[in-house]
Amino acid sequence: MEGVSAVILAAGMGKRMKSALPKVAHPVLGQPMLWHVARLAAAAGIPEIVFVLGHGQEKVMDTVTRFGGKVVVQERQLGTGDAARTGLSAVSPRAREVVVLSGDAPLLRPKTLRALVAARRKGRAAASVLTGILPDPSGYGRVVRSPDGTVARIVEERDADASLRRIPEVNSGTYAFDRAFLARNLPRLTDVNAQREYYLTDLVVQALEEGKVVVPVVAADPDEVRGINSRRELAEATAILLRAKIGALLDAGVTVVDPGRTYVETEVSVGTDTLIEPGVALLGATRIGRGVRIQAGCVVENSIVEDGARLQPYSVLSGARVRKGAIVGPFARLRPEADIGEGAHIGNFVEVKKSRLGKGTKANHLSYIGDSLVGRKVNIGAGTITCNYDGIAKHTTVIGDGVFVGSDTQFVAPVTIGKGALIGAGATIVKDVPPYALALSRAEQKVLADWVTRKKPELLTKAGLKIPRLPKKEKPK
Ligand code: UD1
Ligand code: CA
Repeated sequence: MEGVSAVILAAGMGKRMKSALPKVAHPVLGQPMLWHVARLAAAAGIPEIVFVLGHGQEKVMDTVTRFGGKVVVQERQLGTGDAARTGLSAVSPRAREVVVLSGDAPLLRPKTLRALVAARRKGRAAASVLTGILPDPSGYGRVVRSPDGTVARIVEERDADASLRRIPEVNSGTYAFDRAFLARNLPRLTDVNAQREYYLTDLVVQALEEGKVVVPVVAADPDEVRGINSRRELAEATAILLRAKIGALLDAGVTVVDPGRTYVETEVSVGTDTLIEPGVALLGATRIGRGVRIQAGCVVENSIVEDGARLQPYSVLSGARVRKGAIVGPFARLRPEADIGEGAHIGNFVEVKKSRLGKGTKANHLSYIGDSLVGRKVNIGAGTITCNYDGIAKHTTVIGDGVFVGSDTQFVAPVTIGKGALIGAGATIVKDVPPYALALSRAEQKVLADWVTRKKPELLTKAGLKIPRLPKKEKPK
């Protein structure tokens, strides 16, 4: 789409959202509303995007940067016509056509946008308008057609009488304009209407005055024209995008056991033959490989899960990587920079943070592994803890290949365990252990014969045990 620029109107606060956050910054399926609109313009092949921003603009700067857009600030929100005029001032002189998009309409598809541009060109029109036929058109501007089918005018609901309000065809707020027409006519808009705003929609009448036409393009799917003004509409739009996202996964060969109880955000990718059980949430930039099984209740955010891995129920991953064939959970927690090696096992109530675990290593029960470098085929016993934090700084634990760590061991970092070493259960390891060595740290066990019978017989009674007869003790003289 050479010579076409997009102007996205996004300066409004969105009062009906009742929010401290500007409307277009609200996330829809994990990305700001505005991100969806910008992506649509980019995907349609429009090379330049101008964002018209206002209050809270810093909240959407990530989106602007991501799409390499230009920003113009509309100081006072005087209406969509004023916003478009502001936006046009930043459009490059090379652009001969301008597509105006609403920052609050994230459901539009690139194909529809291309059809809108094509329709204006074909009709040699001043503008083309995307419209939708809605079962409930309330809240939208209504499209009044001329006898020849072109647009005669667009009337805002607040300026419409009862008969106009019965028109089911609404304005989506998405337009393709001839740039010269736009530049000539935006300064001519007035604010004589119910809201005392400069309406972009009044350009229709100005086109007719110039002897030009405005052609309508009806969206095949009425959902595409939905604008979001309230939390209710935000929830509806999210549900529509979610259904589409899960539909795309199903089409691509992913099994989703219960689509109605699965949440997958926009940017997540999932390989074929992966099976997703109910109650799973896949968030952010998560990438799931092929043949993965993700069991009930898992929450996976910004993580990579490689082919053939398995996430057992209620595991929570954030910024983690699980390599091929590894098994995680149930109830495991993988925090940022946890890197679980091929075929490794992370079991219940194990937390891993900023640690690399080698191929085939196992930590199956109740452990904390943080700031560690763990080799291959290491066995980490139940209750092992890396004491990585001294209250001031974090320290590293290094465990070599094939180390066997007995249960209930603490590694007081920084500490290094050589390969093939054996750590006896219950150790507190404060010094390095050389390869192949045995390290023990425990107080010697004492046994006091018949102590319970002599000193606390009531314990035996309470447990229903008979109190044994004691061997006669020689009386000390
Ligand atoms: C607008 C249309 C209406 C259409 C509806 C579709 C006009 C006058 N009305 O109404 O016909 O059916 O969209 O959703 O155009 N904005 C600015 N600066 C402003 C005013 C608005 O940047 O001064 C931005 C908003 O941030 C928003 C977009 O323009 O992203 C649309 O504004 P909004 O107030 O939501 O318009 P609607 O009342 O929905
Ligand atoms: Ca709106």
